[in-house]
Amino acid sequence: MKQSIWGEMFRRKSVEVIKAQSEEEKGPRLKRVLTARDVFNHGVAAIIGTGIFVLTGVAAANTAGPGILLSFVLAGLACAFVSFAYAEQASMIPVSGSAYTYAYATMGEFLAWLIGWDLLLEYAVGASAVASGWSAYLQNILQGLGYHLPAYLTVAPPTLPLGHVGITLAFLLGGIFVTARSFGKVAEAKDKAEAKAKSSSNKANWLSRLLGFGLIGVAVAFGLDTYRHLTSVDLPAVLIVAFINFWLIKGVSHTAKMTSIFVVVKLAVVIFFIAVGAFHIDTANYSPFLPFGWSGVLAGAGVVFFAFIGFDAVTTLSEECKDPQKDVPKGVIGSLVVCTLLYVLVAAIMTGAVSYTLLGGAGEGAPMAKVLDHIGLNWASPLVSVGAIAGITSVLIVLLFGQSRIMMRMAKDGLVSPVFGRVSPRFHTPVWSIAIWGVIVALSAGLVPIGELAELTSIGTLFAFVIVSLGVIVLRRTEPERHRGFKCPGYPYVPILGALLSFILMLSLPGITWLRFVGWMAIGIVVYFTYSRSHSRLTR
Ligand code: ALA
Repeated sequence: MKQSIWGEMFRRKSVEVIKAQSEEEKGPRLKRVLTARDVFNHGVAAIIGTGIFVLTGVAAANTAGPGILLSFVLAGLACAFVSFAYAEQASMIPVSGSAYTYAYATMGEFLAWLIGWDLLLEYAVGASAVASGWSAYLQNILQGLGYHLPAYLTVAPPTLPLGHVGITLAFLLGGIFVTARSFGKVAEAKDKAEAKAKSSSNKANWLSRLLGFGLIGVAVAFGLDTYRHLTSVDLPAVLIVAFINFWLIKGVSHTAKMTSIFVVVKLAVVIFFIAVGAFHIDTANYSPFLPFGWSGVLAGAGVVFFAFIGFDAVTTLSEECKDPQKDVPKGVIGSLVVCTLLYVLVAAIMTGAVSYTLLGGAGEGAPMAKVLDHIGLNWASPLVSVGAIAGITSVLIVLLFGQSRIMMRMAKDGLVSPVFGRVSPRFHTPVWSIAIWGVIVALSAGLVPIGELAELTSIGTLFAFVIVSLGVIVLRRTEPERHRGFKCPGYPYVPILGALLSFILMLSLPGITWLRFVGWMAIGIVVYFTYSRSHSRLTR
């Protein structure tokens, strides 16, 4: 029976159906190889990165003063409430789509689509921003060693010839679409009439193929012209994204090994900073504690929230864990608790060892190094850079990984092209999803002046947090009997507080970020009504 548009938009997939569909999927599958320790590592890998190594100093100097400590507590508290909501849903729905899949079970297809689309901001835009931070730290290290890369190879151009890029992309996507359709229509003719029809359809296919190739040709010509207009590219950012994608294609156990090495290095550096800095705290630096008032603390929480992003990414591992219903909740909560503790200590030491006013200005992108220089440990600042590089690399791994898994799930549900859902029989990874997103993220990291786009990542993630928190309440009502490996404590207050605090943090972000967010979601709504609704697995 045909459903109304409303019926289609709000159709839900029960937890039973989600699990059953994931079990019955044909073809090569992801491998269940990860243990509880891998999952915890993955969480820490995702969380500690640009936020603590780059943003803390800027936020302390310009937004919150020593009160940045409270900003960390506030953002950490919001994340703690939300982490319980993630843990409960991950223990019920052990598939890899994270907030997207949970929304499909609780709020229906349209909201699930919006969350999937919104998560592109957390994962793809976030990865582009993080890759730029990686490149900046690499250049710090190289400069320390006396090497200077030319400016045209180390920064994204201040402006992009957007018209050219838009036309190139439009022709390229059009060309790929027309060509792919023409190749998809091959069948054997059973009789004369069908052979005749087939031959004219083959002719049409050949014409489409020619048209497709023509469009791709025009795209290449425009692309070459765009290239001539470019003044610079952030090459290190492009190369690190390409390198990580190569590893991601090879398989999750390879990545898990690499991730654990990075986690050890960055934890060692953060703990070293805390241990050394603790002996140099001067309580006079804490006064005034709130130079920007409570509004500064709230705005600071909006900025440092970026540092917490990633604990939720653990849930994208569900289909690759040996025991997802137990290990994923432990990984989400455990990694968040450990990182929050470290963050609060780092913030206390940073603003206690030097006056917050010194954390801004030149070198504000490397606050830990600044503090170490100030207390006379100049030899230690290169160590921090190594820790930062390791930390940011592991964040990139997790974000790129999560992006490919969420897209894979959306493709299996029919909401995006099936190409994103294909799992390689050789590597057991979604190669196309990794490769296509790898190219997009590499290009945007290298070419788009990313700046405030990091705030877009935060607003996108917070929106997903609101939906996941409310999802716990919906599932407790719709599926009260279902077994939960983990139950959110303090129900219903904890999920309500999680949603509320996340929304308050969204409100603390600047108006321009809201505008971009609304624009992005509007594009998502157009895509849903022109493609996803009609191709949904539930429609078919
Ligand atoms: N939490 C991650 C970072 O700070 C995104 O880099």
